[in-house]
Amino acid sequence: MSSSPRKILVTAALPYANGEIHLGHVLEYVQADIWTRFQKMRGHECRYFCADDTHGTPIMISARAQNISPEELIKGAYERHSADLADFQVEFDNFYSTHSPENKVFSEEFFLKMKKKNHIVLKTIKQAYCEHDKMFLPDRFVKGTCPKCGAEEQYGDSCDVCAATYAPGDLKDPHCSICKNPPTTRDSEHIFFKLNDYKDFLKDWLPGHTQKEINNKMLEWFGEDLRDWDISRDDPYFGFEIPGHPGKYFYVWVDAPIGYISSTKNWCDRNGRDYKEFWSNPEAEIHHFIGKDIIYFHTLFWPAMLKAAEYNLPTKVNVHGFVKINGEKMSKSKGTFINARTYLKHVDPMYLRYYYASKLSNRVDDIDLNISDFISRVNSELIGKITNLASRGAQMLNKKLDGTTSTLDDLGQEKVKWAQSKSEVIAEHFENLEYSKAIIEIRDIAEGANKYFDEHEPWKLIKTDPIKTKQILTTIINMFRIMAIYLKPVMPEYSKNVEALLNEKTPFTWNSAQEVLENRAINAYTHLATRLEQKQFDTMIQEELSKSSKA
Ligand code: 2FM
Ligand code: ZN
Repeated sequence: MSSSPRKILVTAALPYANGEIHLGHVLEYVQADIWTRFQKMRGHECRYFCADDTHGTPIMISARAQNISPEELIKGAYERHSADLADFQVEFDNFYSTHSPENKVFSEEFFLKMKKKNHIVLKTIKQAYCEHDKMFLPDRFVKGTCPKCGAEEQYGDSCDVCAATYAPGDLKDPHCSICKNPPTTRDSEHIFFKLNDYKDFLKDWLPGHTQKEINNKMLEWFGEDLRDWDISRDDPYFGFEIPGHPGKYFYVWVDAPIGYISSTKNWCDRNGRDYKEFWSNPEAEIHHFIGKDIIYFHTLFWPAMLKAAEYNLPTKVNVHGFVKINGEKMSKSKGTFINARTYLKHVDPMYLRYYYASKLSNRVDDIDLNISDFISRVNSELIGKITNLASRGAQMLNKKLDGTTSTLDDLGQEKVKWAQSKSEVIAEHFENLEYSKAIIEIRDIAEGANKYFDEHEPWKLIKTDPIKTKQILTTIINMFRIMAIYLKPVMPEYSKNVEALLNEKTPFTWNSAQEVLENRAINAYTHLATRLEQKQFDTMIQEELSKSSKA
C-alpha cells in the first residue's frame, strides 16, 4: 500500500442523451469503475463522476419528432442511462446532467476567461440553411447522393457505402434530412476559440499525459498551425446561450467536458465539500477515460480550455479501443449492436465485467467480445476453476464437518502466503490498467488451489482423517477468499456474496488479503455463479434483430 492517501477524480465520457447505452459504452464505464473501486479498496479518496451529455441539434430534432420538449427527452434518457449503468454495477459518486445550473455557470466562466485572455475571435462563415425548418443545418443533417459512388441518402460529410469524405456542398441532390427540401446557404457570424494560442503548451503537455500511441497520433497535427475551433451554434439550438452574444449557443462539445466539473461541484455541494479540492489543487489527480473517437476533444480542446480557465489539467487521459463482437464491428443488421438493457435481460452483468477485464490492457487496441470465448472463459475459469473451489470446499465443510475452519498446517500456510504474495503485482496491474494481466495472476492462484485440492483428495481423506481434511479445506477457503478480494474491483457483487459466505466482519479492502481466516464458522454455501449457455446469447441477438427489423 502506497504511503499517503491520494485524492483522485475519475471520469468516463458523458453518454449522449439521444441514444441508449450499449455494450461499447459499458466497456468504458466498467474500465473506469474497476479502477475507481480498486483505488477505493487501497484506501485512497477516489471519486467517479459522470453525467448525461444533453445538448445539441440531434436532441432538439428528436424531441420535436416525438412531440415532446428536449427537457422531457433528456429526463427519460437520464433515467434509463442511470438504471442501465447501475445494473452493470457501475458505481458513480455522481451521475449528473450537462443541462444543469452549475454547468451553465461554468460554461460562462470558461468563455469569459477565454475572452479576457484574447483567445476568442469572431468570423463570418457560410453554412447550409433550411428555409422550411428555419435553421442552420449541421453537416449530419444534410443528406444527398454520394458524389463518388452515387449511393443515395448519404450524410453531408462522408459516405457509408464507399467511405469517401467530402464537403456538404459536394453532395448531389442535397436535401435537409428533416423536411427533404434542398438547403440554401447563409452567412452567419460564429465565435471561435484560437486553439493555436496553446500549440506550444499542448505539444509539451501531450507526451506526459497520454499513451504513446495517442501522443504520436496527436503530434501529427502539430506540423502546421492548429485551426480555430468554432464554439458557437445559431438559434434554434438546445443548449446554453453565450453571454454577450444573443442568439448564439455554446456548441455541445464546449459544455460537455465542463460537465465533469459541474458533476463534481454538484456532489461537493451536497456533501459539504469544495470542488476546488479536485479541480484547483496541485495535489489532486484527474483521470479521464475515453474512447479513441473523441481523442481530439480531450487531448487538445479540453486541456487548452482548462489552461485558459486556470483549472487543474488532466493527470492522464486513458484511451481505449472499440468493442467488436465476434471480430466484427457491432452491427444493427446482424443483431450485434447490443443494448445494455437487452444484455441485462439475458446474462448476468458480472460475467461481462469479468470478460472485459480479462481482455483489457492500457493500449488502444479494439476489444473483441467473442461469444464462444466469453462462454468458455466464464464457464471454465470463473466457474470451473474459481467458484468451484468455494462450492466444493464450503459445502464439504458445512455438510461433512462442523462448518468451522481450523488453523492452517505448514503446507497450507505456504500456499496462502504464496497467494498473498501476489498482492502487489496484481495491484500494480490494476494501477496500470493492465487488467488482463491481473486476471492471469488470479487464475494462476486458482490453478494452484485446484492442483492442491486434487492432490490431497479431501473427499477421500474425510473418511479417515477429518482433522487433516479440515486443514485442507481451510487452505482452499483461504485461497478462494484471497482471489475474491483481488477480484472485488471487477466483480463487486460476487465479492460481497463471498464476504457474507465467509462471515466477514467488514467489507474486503485490499489489505484483507493479508489476513488469514482460521477457526471461523462460515455460512451455508449459496450459489455464487451459474454456467453460461450459448442459447442465452442467441436469444439476446434475436431480440436485437427483431428491434432492427421493426426500425
Ligand atoms: O462521444 C460522445 O458520446 C460524447 N457525448 C462524449 C462527451 S465526453 C465529455 F467531453 F463530455
Ligand atoms: Zn428542413
